[in-house]
Amino acid sequence: MRLTRLAAARFRNLEPFDRKIGTSFVVLHGPNAQGKTNVLEAVYLLATLKPLRARRPRDLVRWGDEAAWVQALVTSKGAERKLRVVLEGSRRRAEVDGKTASLDAYFEWARAIAFVPSDTGIVTGEPARRRNWVDRAAFTAHPAHLEAVKRYKRALDQKAAALRANVADAVLDAIDDGLAESGARLVERRTALVEEISPHVRAIHTMLAAERGALALHYRTQAVGDSVAARSNALRGRLADARKGERQRRMVLVGPHLDDVEVALEDRSARAWGSQGQVRSVVLALKLAEMVAASRRGGDMPLFLVDDIGSELDRDRKRRLVEVLRELEAQVFLTTTDPEHLVDLPKGDTEFVRIEGGKLY
Ligand SMILES: Nc1ncnc2c1ncn2[C@@H]1O[C@H](COP(=O)(O)OP(=O)(O)O)[C@@H](O)[C@H]1O
Ligand SMILES: [Mg+2]
Repeated sequence: MRLTRLAAARFRNLEPFDRKIGTSFVVLHGPNAQGKTNVLEAVYLLATLKPLRARRPRDLVRWGDEAAWVQALVTSKGAERKLRVVLEGSRRRAEVDGKTASLDAYFEWARAIAFVPSDTGIVTGEPARRRNWVDRAAFTAHPAHLEAVKRYKRALDQKAAALRANVADAVLDAIDDGLAESGARLVERRTALVEEISPHVRAIHTMLAAERGALALHYRTQAVGDSVAARSNALRGRLADARKGERQRRMVLVGPHLDDVEVALEDRSARAWGSQGQVRSVVLALKLAEMVAASRRGGDMPLFLVDDIGSELDRDRKRRLVEVLRELEAQVFLTTTDPEHLVDLPKGDTEFVRIEGGKLY
């Protein structure tokens, strides 16, 4: 996927703009608090329909305004489409070629993977960060994953409500059947993604970090088994064992909402290494491997967005990152306070855009 034109209005602090884009690398540079990340945010919203940093889409609307929009011409699989996202109050509308599109139809044309400074938390943070990462990666590779996530979430909410209402055992039994089933399907998908992505993570990490030691991912779950049915049985058994405790604490104590992904470098847990540089290389390898997995499936490469490249990586890692991205033939948007940080970008295929006071120059 490539953007050949990007426009936005009333989006954060950005002045309305409409720009052609003709290169694989786009560098957004300028002093702090001028709007660099906001441009990245516009690209990310367009490609994923999610905010990059904000919690709610409405935070993306310029303060004091009611509505904002972002639009772009994209080429993907040899065709061109106009994508447009309109934010109005708390509502969001996605259009393809001027017509409101279903999510499935929209995501035929749009995908992006972003690497932002806080992403180091995927390795160093709580398990929830890694579960979110797996779900996002699985979604980028297979948009149908979203439905599996939502189904499990509904079953989980229903169970939590039933525990609070202190319903009879027979009712909880029926709810647990559904919970085990939807949970098993979710785990099966997540495990498949981790297995699919692992060899890419390992290869890219070796190239990026030039460090010894193999990087390994392992999905940790109580829903063990080699089929959905087996996983569902395992979960159902655990739920039965946990019934008393769940009733006491009025919480669902078993299931994939508590799973984790173990990230190990040469058999040591990545959370324990401590070195920021190592953590960054690992997270970058995770993100780039997502790119490979996504392109394998849908046939088209997502956009790759990097926020604040200067502060994130040393020169060698940056050079290798650029090599990997060129090999993947991805279109890349980067922000930096200092374009000097990015000396290894391909000269003929890089555009530098200066951002000052919300204006693009
Ligand atoms: N909804 C909004 N409306 C108007 N301005 C906003 C909004 N959200 C953030 N800003 C402003 O946007 C400015 C630039 O943000 P940002 O893109 O993060 O800068 P940079 O990445 O260049 O450091 C900040 O000064 C911030 O106050
Ligand atoms: Mg920024």
